[in-house]
Amino acid sequence: MGVEIRVEGLTKSFGGQVIWRDVTLTLPSGEINVMLGPSGTGKSVFLKCLVGLLKPDRGHIYIESHDLATCGERELYEVRKLFGVLFQDGALFGSMNLYDNVAFPLREHTRRSESEIRSIVMEKIELVGLLGAERKLPGEISGGMRKRAGLARALVLDPQIMLFDEPDSGLDPVRTAYLNQLIVDLNQQTGATFLIVTHDINTARTVPDNIGLLYHRHLAMFGPREMCLCSEEPVVRQFLNAQRIGPIGMAEEKDADELAAEAASGAALPPLPPIPLQLEPSNGLPRYTQRPAGQWCLAHGVKPPPGSFQPNVSTAPGAAFAAERGRA
Ligand SMILES: Nc1ncnc2c1ncn2[C@@H]1O[C@H](COP(=O)(O)OP(=O)(O)OP(=O)(O)O)[C@@H](O)[C@H]1O
Ligand SMILES: [Mg+2]
Repeated sequence: MGVEIRVEGLTKSFGGQVIWRDVTLTLPSGEINVMLGPSGTGKSVFLKCLVGLLKPDRGHIYIESHDLATCGERELYEVRKLFGVLFQDGALFGSMNLYDNVAFPLREHTRRSESEIRSIVMEKIELVGLLGAERKLPGEISGGMRKRAGLARALVLDPQIMLFDEPDSGLDPVRTAYLNQLIVDLNQQTGATFLIVTHDINTARTVPDNIGLLYHRHLAMFGPREMCLCSEEPVVRQFLNAQRIGPIGMAEEKDADELAAEAASGAALPPLPPIPLQLEPSNGLPRYTQRPAGQWCLAHGVKPPPGSFQPNVSTAPGAAFAAERGRA
């Protein structure tokens, strides 16, 4: 089962530059969480703090009985075994083939025999669709394949916490759809706690249980997917709906003149789009932490945008046939 991560008052700066301050949130055990934010707002730095690669200036990261923000190297080494991390660039060893890259954590952290290692490595390589490529070097394969090899390596120790830094960047839309399904299926099978950093709005809208947004050196919002997708908070609304109108500009923050010009032009915000159904595991069985569609809205008396929680008619099986028949 996954474990809960409780972050309290976390602050990180480099030299005099504050990246973010007072970040407080709980990643509930076994849930899928997505962290969004404009480029450079410190999402990768946040993941690196969670896994203990960077020390925050202030605050706490509670995992089981440990505080990763303050513990020593030995304790950190032990807690790190709970994590599987997919770094932004895959972070493979360039001189090792994919097989040895994926086998590396098992050889480093366990006393398993080479034949046991082989069966685990091949199982994970097959899971990410790289069977046949295991003898290739990272330099000989595409960026998307390197990502998937990084994912296989992150999975070999059966982690209880999985961190993904932009698993979908550089992937084509079809592979992104497969990857999202793989993430949901993995969460169902492992029950691990997931945190995914992504720029893909469709991923953010359909995959997670909770969504967070880092903006302007703080955590602008963190909470259930339905809460964030109904939110009228300008920054959250702008980001989750990929709109130009709002406080975020090309250089992260619009200046007062730009905002005043926008207000004066009377530019109206388009209505909130419907909330899509959450992506379900491919075997049709619910995840351990899955909530029924619309539950948060119902419990909080919030009316979701019209058309929410409907199956996507255009992709539903038989939709094309029905449309064709309707035309005839
Ligand atoms: N080791 C470091 N030393 C100094 N500054 C750093 C270090 N790592 C990151 N930074 C700075 O911290 C800020 C946040 O970087 P980070 O990589 O976390 O952004 P990000 O939100 O992941 O962006 P992107 O979406 O482009 O990946 C940047 O200004 C970056 O230059
Ligand atoms: Mg990053």
